[in-house]
This record gives sequence, structure tokens and C-alpha cells, in this order.
Amino acid sequence: IQVDDFDLVIFGATGDLARRKILPGLFRRHAGGQFPEGARIIAAARAEMDDAAFRADIRAAIAEFDPDRAEDPELPGFLDRLSYVRVDACGEEGWPELAARMRKDVVQAFYFSVAPSLFGDLAERLARHGIAGPQARIVVEKPFGRDLASARELNQVLARHFDERQIYRIDHYLGKETVQNLMAVRFANILFEPLWNAHYIDHVQITVAETVGVAGRAAYYDHAGAMRDMVQNHLLQLVCLIAMEPPWHFGPDAARDEKLKVIRALETVPPADIVRGQYAGEGDEPDYLTDVGNPDSRTESFVALKLRIANWRWQGVPFYLRTGKCLRARTSEIAVVFREPPHSIFDTADQQKPNQLVIRLQPNEGINLKVMIKEPGPGGMRLVQVPLDMSFAEALGPEGAEMPDAYERLITDVIRGNQTLFMRGDEVEAAWAWADPIIAAWEQGSARPEPYQPGTSGPDEALRLIHRDGRRWRDIKT
Ligand code: BG6
Repeated sequence: IQVDDFDLVIFGATGDLARRKILPGLFRRHAGGQFPEGARIIAAARAEMDDAAFRADIRAAIAEFDPDRAEDPELPGFLDRLSYVRVDACGEEGWPELAARMRKDVVQAFYFSVAPSLFGDLAERLARHGIAGPQARIVVEKPFGRDLASARELNQVLARHFDERQIYRIDHYLGKETVQNLMAVRFANILFEPLWNAHYIDHVQITVAETVGVAGRAAYYDHAGAMRDMVQNHLLQLVCLIAMEPPWHFGPDAARDEKLKVIRALETVPPADIVRGQYAGEGDEPDYLTDVGNPDSRTESFVALKLRIANWRWQGVPFYLRTGKCLRARTSEIAVVFREPPHSIFDTADQQKPNQLVIRLQPNEGINLKVMIKEPGPGGMRLVQVPLDMSFAEALGPEGAEMPDAYERLITDVIRGNQTLFMRGDEVEAAWAWADPIIAAWEQGSARPEPYQPGTSGPDEALRLIHRDGRRWRDIKT
């Protein structure tokens, strides 16, 4: 289904995110026939460039980041939609030209793919030059602040010129197909919801493991760390989707109200329930301190923590979260581990294992429900756990399993005016309010993160965090 006619302006269009994700994502939607004839994409950046040079650059970006589509017959048509304006975010240059190019009677989306310190300048100039029309909306990326105070300030700066209804804060995890599937699994089936509480669930594990290090992103990462980079946003969003009450409707306010309640119910994490790590390779292996060029850095590239949600549904159910760089495999999954049956009628009760619902977010997207069955054979009632395994690729065929990139979905939602998969200002602030004391304690203390070998599952302390509760992490493997 085609979206309404639009003018999309990308500030910072020559930057990495625009080249790697935004423009390739837009091209896919163009190739999918979703854009009306007149829709236009206007790149705005500081570099001296003309339309032709920008188009050539994006052709190269698509060849690099989406090589299968480099020769796509739709590519020239997409490039024709692009134009370039040289705009100075903090000065006056380029704004009248931009104003002259914009149509006011169509959807206008302004994508701030720039440092957050420029958000205020951009918003103010869009207003002052009368560029933003009645259907204007702005899109901002993370990091949305680095603590509660800075996030509040950003919210205030944007609120001076735009209404909350016009602000689309991206957390790209919400655009992932499998993350949206979480909501389908929970709320489009009757099977799980009756069991989805402290009576039947023992604990939840969320793992977002990456194999890459931080080389190349040192300047940003060393000032952020895994807590700010991943936990405060992506992992907390996953917690929200697992833990929230059923919204009355899958719409922007209903869903975000429920997520906000979860964030507000998060308990403060005591230091004993959180482990920080930093990769420390030897020889040819990557080493965090070398990657960031800062031998004294105490920034964490790994976090594991035990989270509690103070409400009726989750009373006493720990959520174990972990994320890190340079780990054994790239894998993201959520495992809901159920309690064991209250009484076993079999003599082989020691073979009993708890049911688990594992939602594999990436790669090999799918859902796996582990159930107990009788092992075939005459040897009595021997129990064995087997997976009811559903991979999207097998269940839906190659086409159904082709996962659109998160950005494709999110940008289309911006144009459609659907904020459900974007973070509301109060949600972001609540998430910082939870994270701030943890980060502040680290910054005030003198402890260093625990070193861990690249290619492992993180520091041993992270294993102990869960072992001491008599539980085990699932293996990190693809
Ligand atoms: C980003 C983080 O938000 O998410 C990166 O800044 C991280 O550090 C990335 O690598 C992970 O995203 P994905 O989609 O590859 O799981």
C-alpha cells in the first residue's frame, strides 16, 4: 500500500547512518512500490556537493551496504527522487534554498541524523524559516541524551517548536520484525497470556550478544558504554514488551502507556546484581583499551544484570539481562523459563526440565518452545525435552522470511504518522531515571570493569550472577 505523498529531508545525509541504513532502507521501500510518484528525498548536509554528486554517493552506498540491489532496475528511479542542499545547521546558509524546495501541502518529515547537540538548532531554524507545515514531523536517533538531565533538555528543546505528536524518537529494535512479533505471540494467541506471570514463570533471560568490537566508533562509544548504548534503550524496550500488560489497542498511546508503567516499576539494581565487563584480548585479539586508544578507560563493553519489576504480575521473577561486544556469537534472544510442574507423577522426575519459550530475535529468527515428551522405546517412562521449533524461514517460505530492515519499517511509519514503534518523551526520561544511579555509582567509584576474553560469553562474574540463584544462562551461539 502506498504511503501519502511526502518530502523527506535528511539532515546529516552524508553521514554513516544515512548511507548505511536510512537511504538503503528508503530504496527498498521505493523498489517495493510504496512511494507515490511525487515523493522526494532532500539531503541536507554541510559538504559542498550537488545533486549529481550526492546521487553518485548513494549509488555507491547501496553497492556497499546492499550489494544484491546494486544493479536493481529500480535504482535510477530512486536516485531521481534525491536532491541535495548545502545547509549549515548552526548558521544561516542554505535555509532559504531548503525552504524553497519544500512543499507545504504534503507530509514533511525531517530526519535529524546528526549529533544531538544540533537538534535545537535544527528545530529552531525549521520554525524560524517557516519551513515546517501542518503535516511536519521530526525523526531523531539515539543517543537521546546521556542521562535524565540531558534527555529532559533535549525534550524541552524539541518541544519549543514541535508537539509530542510530531516527534519520532527511534529505537531501531522496535522496528525489527521479530521484536514486533513478540507482541503478536503474546497478544494474538490465548496460549501464553494465562501463564505469563509470577505463578508460572521462573525467570526471563534476555541476551543481546555481538561479535564486533568498538574500533571505529571509539569517540562515541568510550563516552557511552554498554549501559547507555544498549541497556537503557534496546534491552529495556525488550523488557517492556515482555512485561507489559496487554494494551487495549495496538496504537501509539495505549502501547506506550503500558511500556511506561513497566519502566516506572523497575526496581533500583543493587551493585551486587550487576556486572560490568571490558574485553581484553592478548596478541592478535582485540582489546578494548587499544580499540578506544584510552589506556585508562573504565567504560564497559559488557553488562549483565538482574532486574526486578515491582508489580503484581512479576513479583519475585528476575529478569536477567546481558549484552556485550566481542562475544562468542552474534545472537539476540529472549528466553522465558517456566516453573516446573507442581508434582511429578513419574518416577523419572529427575529428568524433568522446565518449559522454555525462546524467541530468537536474530539471526535465524524464530520461536522455540521446549516441551517434555516420552523418549520412544520400551524402557519405561523416560522423559526428554524436545523443541517445538519454528523458524520463520521454514514456516513462511523464503519470501515470508525475508526480514525487512528495521529502518524500512520505521521510516514508513513516520510517513504514515504512526508513532506506536517510537519512544515517547516520558518513556525515554523514565528509562534514564532508572539507569542514572547505576551509571553514577560507577563513575563515582574507582572499580574497573571485569576483563573478559574476546570470543567468550563475558566475564565469569556474569556467570556467577545467575549461578548463585541456582540458574544458568543459555549458551551464546548462533
Ligand atoms: C546500536 C548500538 O544502537 O545497536 C550499537 O549503538 C549496536 O553499538 C547496535 O552494535 C546493534 O544493533 P543490531 O541491529 O545490529 O542488533
